[in-house]
Amino acid sequence: MDKFIIKGNTPLQGEIPISGSKNAAMPVMAAALLADSPTVIHAVPQLEDIYTFNNVLRITGAQVDFDESNNILTIDPSHVTHLEAPYELVRKMRASFYMLGALLGRYGRAKVSLPGGCAWGPRPVDLHLKGLRTFGAEIELDNGYVIGNAPDGKLQGGSFRLDPSSVGATINLLLATVRSKGQFKIENAAREPDVVQLCNVLQKMGAQIEGVGTKTLAIDGVDQLEGVEVQNAPDRIETGTFMIAGVMHPESEITITQTRPDELGDFLDTFKNLNADTRIDGSKIHVKAPSTLHPESIETAVYPGFPTDLQAQWTTMMTQAEGASSVTDHIYNDRFNHIPELVRLGASITVNGNTARIQGKTPLQGATVMSTDLRASVSLVLAAMIANGETHVKRIYHLDRGYEDLEQKLTNVGAEIQRVQDTEQP
Ligand code: UD1
Repeated sequence: MDKFIIKGNTPLQGEIPISGSKNAAMPVMAAALLADSPTVIHAVPQLEDIYTFNNVLRITGAQVDFDESNNILTIDPSHVTHLEAPYELVRKMRASFYMLGALLGRYGRAKVSLPGGCAWGPRPVDLHLKGLRTFGAEIELDNGYVIGNAPDGKLQGGSFRLDPSSVGATINLLLATVRSKGQFKIENAAREPDVVQLCNVLQKMGAQIEGVGTKTLAIDGVDQLEGVEVQNAPDRIETGTFMIAGVMHPESEITITQTRPDELGDFLDTFKNLNADTRIDGSKIHVKAPSTLHPESIETAVYPGFPTDLQAQWTTMMTQAEGASSVTDHIYNDRFNHIPELVRLGASITVNGNTARIQGKTPLQGATVMSTDLRASVSLVLAAMIANGETHVKRIYHLDRGYEDLEQKLTNVGAEIQRVQDTEQP
């Protein structure tokens, strides 16, 4: 197992390019199974989650070629015969559950492991299953697996309201319906850029979807879909993470390149209140740290609200703001694994229910820390880069799941991060 050794109190200066989004890529990878010919996806990041999904696809018989030096992924679905996603892979990564919609939508049958909980608590899939049943699928649970079956091989139609709005369920329902017989309506659908990208790709394949980018999606099933060549979007969570990194040390000034500022939603508006110098120039975002960071409270919400995937990083930043602030997560109520570790570094934070209250500004002091999920881990890296002394961040395999070249990108702008093997046994 690797760990990072980070020497802190280093300002960041220079340019950071943004990689393709993993969360946007994976629904498109599942969608490739719906077509009759190969799909080529550009700007796919080299991340553990992508490698896991490649293996999930390969198990079905799909041919997957990842040209890693160019970040181009080609998926040929011509030889899919095994309509199953096994527990060993689904447990590693929840997005594998998209196989349920994709296999059911294309072949009328699927056996997919239930994903189970997560480091920060239960993450239900009841809406995925209810929606599929409403659309005519027979769904059974058997030994931890979901077995889905479309009578007559195709879903027949129907209308389903998501409550609450769910990114994962919207994606699964889209995958299950676009290549079918009927007419479908998904109400209170997620409007996340990841969902919009998937809809755009499906339309390019030949799908009939109305209301893309709105809360109501109307799908008219089609008989056939063709593979396409598409460009994956830049990672908006990586963008937000580096924007935060860029304002935490008073001497930092960075430019984030190859990004899409218009996909940042409320995050960007809230960020502009921090007193930092924030300038947008096409696909570049320039941020210069202020001498005094303003405290700014946030509450996570569905897109375009503040993303749950950036609340841990925001909490770390708020330890350096002059004054009190709070972070409330309405999407996942107990996503606060990082807080005790931040407190060990010197932060003053208390958690009550789904709200963390932060009292800034507190100097941070290096220590050994570890975390149990991706965004929590990166929030510790952010803290370590401004802490005095040396911090050891353990179990960084979480970071390898979701941040491409993290230490290289940060080292290039002045951070002192070393990846070493952690010999200490857990
Ligand atoms: C969520 C985030 C997504 C992020 C991902 C990983 C939102 C809306 N979604 O996606 O942006 O990338 O975490 O961190 O911010 N729910 C149910 N039943 C279901 C499905 C979901 O009750 O069947 C609930 C969830 O518990 C949650 C809410 O609906 O409170 C949103 O869930 P969903 O968008 O599906 O979550 P993820 O796909 O995990």
